[in-house]
Amino acid sequence: MMETPMASTATSTPTALTDSFGRSITDLRISVTERCNYRCVYCRTGQGEASNHAEPPAEPLSWSELERLARAFVGLGIKKVRLTGGEPLLRPGLVEFVASVAALGVTDIALTTNGHLLAPLAGPLRRAGLTRVTVSLDSLQPESFTRITRVPGGLDRVLEALAAAAAARLWPVKVNVVLLRGYNDGEIEAFARFARERDCVVRFIEFMPLEEGSLWSRARVVPMDEIVQRISRVHALDPLPRKPGETACRYRFHDGADGEIGIVAPVTSPFCNQCTRVRVTADGKLRTCLFSLREWDLRPALREPSADTLAGRIRRAVAQKEERHHIGEPGFVKPARGMVQIGG
Ligand code: 5AD
Ligand code: SF4
Repeated sequence: MMETPMASTATSTPTALTDSFGRSITDLRISVTERCNYRCVYCRTGQGEASNHAEPPAEPLSWSELERLARAFVGLGIKKVRLTGGEPLLRPGLVEFVASVAALGVTDIALTTNGHLLAPLAGPLRRAGLTRVTVSLDSLQPESFTRITRVPGGLDRVLEALAAAAAARLWPVKVNVVLLRGYNDGEIEAFARFARERDCVVRFIEFMPLEEGSLWSRARVVPMDEIVQRISRVHALDPLPRKPGETACRYRFHDGADGEIGIVAPVTSPFCNQCTRVRVTADGKLRTCLFSLREWDLRPALREPSADTLAGRIRRAVAQKEERHHIGEPGFVKPARGMVQIGG
């Protein structure tokens, strides 16, 4: 009997993770530390490390526990691993961890970093098996960079890191720009020029209510439509097809220039129905949504000898993945953990 395409997909990945809305979960984001050397206004309170938490940061999983965790997810069909923080480069041993994830057969390993410590590590990370890097860069002007990150003198280091990442062939280098009305919304066109000149992907991100403080309001969000309009006045844009699991609406420049623009619009154009992701916090809590109000502690299962216990717990959690977020709706509840602990 001829197999239908559906049946052959199902048999080729019998252990794949699927949620109750039929979304396949193929993308794991692991936060390796809650610590950060920046205090971005859209993320932290500005009063030092973990300042808003009643308790000190929880003990992170060890590298070997993280390796076991990654192995379990790979066994469940995870194809892409992104390492986040806090600032992941603050944790010694990251290069070796990348190598251990690569040894599991993962060919798409990405890193999200603020770039401050990246320049000397770009080559070693690439050789260990890292394939891509996303660097947060919210302003191209030194004073404004410092106003947002609340750390002086970072801009030059981050620009140097971008050059080092490109030289190490961590392509395509992506730059994340969280737009905040009243801070960097005057730099949209400058960032578009930067994408063209540096041949990188600049991704503008709508500000989400995930900060430790209370800066968020609808009025602070710079909506996707405005971003597209403002860039289009200077450089005509052509939309690119959305890749599966891709959060950004992508555009290339109509005149054929290098570089690409992405717009991640969780507030004005949610993409929850396309979500392929789950996240694990540095202390081993599985979060099935950025906005989850519930977490699944994987640490006890990690310490048990049977790998099945861990896989079962992951499956049960994924089966209860939230349908979508409720940003801006009445009754929206901000999760207890902010972005610095979840890792984006
Ligand atoms: N809203 C939108 N993006 C955010 N990021 C951090 N906090 C927020 C927020 N409140 C971004 C970071 C990083 C990525 C993981 O998420 O700048 O690039
Ligand atoms: Fe640190 Fe990233 Fe949060 Fe900025 S957004 S404070 S770099 S974790």
